[in-house]
Amino acid sequence: MQICVIGTGYVGLCSGVGLAAKGNQVACVGRNKDKIAGIQQGIPPIFEGGLQELLQEVLRNGLFRATDDFAGAVKEAEATFLCVGTPSGKDGRIDLTEMRQAAAQVGEALPDGYCVVVVKSTVVPGTTEEMIRILEERSGRKAGKDFGVCMNPEFLREGRALQDFLQPDRVVVGQLDPRSGDVLQRLYAPFQAPILRTDLKTAEMIKYASNSLLATKISFANEVGNLCKQLGIDTYAVMGGVGLDHRIGPHFLRAGVGFGGSCFQKDVSALKSLAEDQGVPAPLITDVLEVNRRQRFKIIDLLERRLPVNGKTIAILGLSFMGGTDDIRESPALDIIPALLQKGAAVRAYDPQATRHVRPLFPQVTYCASAREALAGADACLLLTEWEEFRSLTDQDFSGMRSPVILEGRRMLDRSKVSRFEGICW
Ligand code: UGA
Repeated sequence: MQICVIGTGYVGLCSGVGLAAKGNQVACVGRNKDKIAGIQQGIPPIFEGGLQELLQEVLRNGLFRATDDFAGAVKEAEATFLCVGTPSGKDGRIDLTEMRQAAAQVGEALPDGYCVVVVKSTVVPGTTEEMIRILEERSGRKAGKDFGVCMNPEFLREGRALQDFLQPDRVVVGQLDPRSGDVLQRLYAPFQAPILRTDLKTAEMIKYASNSLLATKISFANEVGNLCKQLGIDTYAVMGGVGLDHRIGPHFLRAGVGFGGSCFQKDVSALKSLAEDQGVPAPLITDVLEVNRRQRFKIIDLLERRLPVNGKTIAILGLSFMGGTDDIRESPALDIIPALLQKGAAVRAYDPQATRHVRPLFPQVTYCASAREALAGADACLLLTEWEEFRSLTDQDFSGMRSPVILEGRRMLDRSKVSRFEGICW
């Protein structure tokens, strides 16, 4: 199928490359000429496991191109996916500026024949209907008759985005009418995943409810984890037992420094605002965010119980919000580093991918090329991101520290390799 993807961010690029890998002809539209040139040369603007290799393959096969010719790409497409940013506004509500602009531009460029416009960005219920009004106004044509509309939320975890795209648990197709949905049913048929067809608002809500429930599981695991630590119980063993119940499942029960990333914070906040706007009390959703906010500072409390921070050198291992990505949005490190600096500590930091993004924010931090280098001469170490390479750290790696205060915000270290360390919840 001939596909146009508006947006070259995480979702746009991973979806575009994934659809091309399934044999579709994809044009990914961006505004930034340097970014487009890089993508055309096979260099993605973000670090995402496997993306560079697959991008280069689909470019070689002639199935994928990046372009700034918005109208040209839309005119050729049977389906145009809107994958633009929907960031949080100041009040937690989503900012639809980019979405509205993109819908207007798509409306002006709609092809003469039938095509489907697909909203893939995360948007609150009712937004796709608003986009339909913009599309109709700009095109002078009728949705459901002259063109189709779908809402097709994404469930991509950063660091595993391609795997999640190519092997989804489910595909949700919110449709304006059956003809619109049939186009996406055909597109996703080779993915061998259940395809759930709903109306537009239901699809929009499925995304918010999914992310909010995942965030709730994490905050719940953190509350249980804090209690387990107090009682001398291993919370990972507890959640191992809890997760064996098929009604609960084993995932997203890992306690620690809490969730980061642009999605959970943004989507739970948007759901909270939506509930407020509707006058529907949603205390649980509000608390999920508050538990998460408090959780990230627990590692500093733990540190201060071990040594006075003022004048000390603290090594930070991990800057990105999660392993496998260079994304630092809402990363715990971005709250923890300034708190340490404010308390008079010197900070040495190491991250395999994210250093270039953090350096401009905190130029006073010493950025190191390896964990061992960051640890050299440090009085304490805070491990904040689940990078796989941290699993293999041994006593030898920590031997250059001035004092062996090793604190984990993610359960990564192995007691058989590192003799003394403490976790936030263990
Ligand atoms: C999340 C969802 O998992 C995706 O399904 C969704 O599509 C995406 O948001 C989005 O809305 O775009 P993402 O934030 O990229 O994906 O990554 P997750 O794997 O969900 O991790 C989020 C954060 O939770 C990370 O900081 C991770 O370290 C933390 N986490 C995760 C925990 O603290 N404990 C856990 O048990 C699991």
